Amino acid sequence: MARSHDDSWDLASSVGVTATMVAAGRAMATKDPRGLINDPFAEPLVRAVGVDFFIKMMDGDLDMAAIQDVSPTRAQAMVDGIAVRTKYFDEYFISATNGGIRQAVILASGLDARAYRLPWPAGTVVYELDQPRVTEFKTTTLAGLGAEPTAARRVIPIDLRGDWPAALRAAGLDTSAPTAWLAEGLLIYLPPEAQDRLFDNIAALSVPGSTIATEFVPGIVDFDADRIREQSAAFREHGIDIDMASLVYPGQRNHVVDYLNAKGWRAEGVTRTELFERAGLPVPDPEEDDPLGEIIFISAVLSA
Ligand SMILES: C[S@@+](CC[C@H](N)C(=O)[O-])C[C@H]1O[C@@H](n2cnc3c(N)ncnc32)[C@H](O)[C@@H]1O
Repeated sequence: MARSHDDSWDLASSVGVTATMVAAGRAMATKDPRGLINDPFAEPLVRAVGVDFFIKMMDGDLDMAAIQDVSPTRAQAMVDGIAVRTKYFDEYFISATNGGIRQAVILASGLDARAYRLPWPAGTVVYELDQPRVTEFKTTTLAGLGAEPTAARRVIPIDLRGDWPAALRAAGLDTSAPTAWLAEGLLIYLPPEAQDRLFDNIAALSVPGSTIATEFVPGIVDFDADRIREQSAAFREHGIDIDMASLVYPGQRNHVVDYLNAKGWRAEGVTRTELFERAGLPVPDPEEDDPLGEIIFISAVLSA
């Protein structure tokens, strides 16, 4: 179904499925004997969502190669891609708090369990924002598992196209202190102007020394919708109703590094290839790589 300005979802529908999909990737990367990441909450969360496709995927009961017409190497690269992304953003938060920041905001938190698994220094507050059915599900499920947050966790059930800055202030964000912001796996689901507005809102709530981490997906600019639709059709044959082509907003948009640098941040990007190399992982063959292209992972500091 096409997107609309006020659409909503849970973790088994529309954009919400993508949160379950990446959490399934984290569950698989966590099981990987190479010990790339450790997210012990990903697997139980995905099982609780209950989408059969992802449960089979985590259990190794899906022939990914048959589904997407990609090699087993490519299937592994997809999981490795989630692993390096998770590690990059984990390290980002650890570095921000080592630098003295004591409040973090996770925009589009999905099934991100960092508020429960990172070693936050005492006194850190972690805000999580996502659609109401997403935040409610994660909070209830993790409580049911007996999981305890490792920071003060404040949840803001809201659509990020609405007035989330007001909600964040009302929830207690201290705009006189620096904040570490994260927008992971979010931007392609926002229209280009909403991406710019997101960063403008972040800047308006940030004092110098605040940080942002996010990623830029170059493939969104000349997005190959037909190729994505073919893949989505193959997914549907296996019982999962996802049409990635209709969930994202393709076309021209500002490059995040340029936009942030123009607005007073000092932004640096690192390619996914570089992250694979740093982790000692085999770099995916560009010919076989996914249509989203060479993703750039970005972190930025707001200058004085
Ligand atoms: C690919 S998932 C990423 C989730 C999480 N950041 C992670 O990496 O595991 C995309 C997330 O963006 C959220 N999202 C997308 N558009 C949103 C919007 N307009 N308002 C609130 N949440 C949104 C979805 O609900 C979903 O949780």
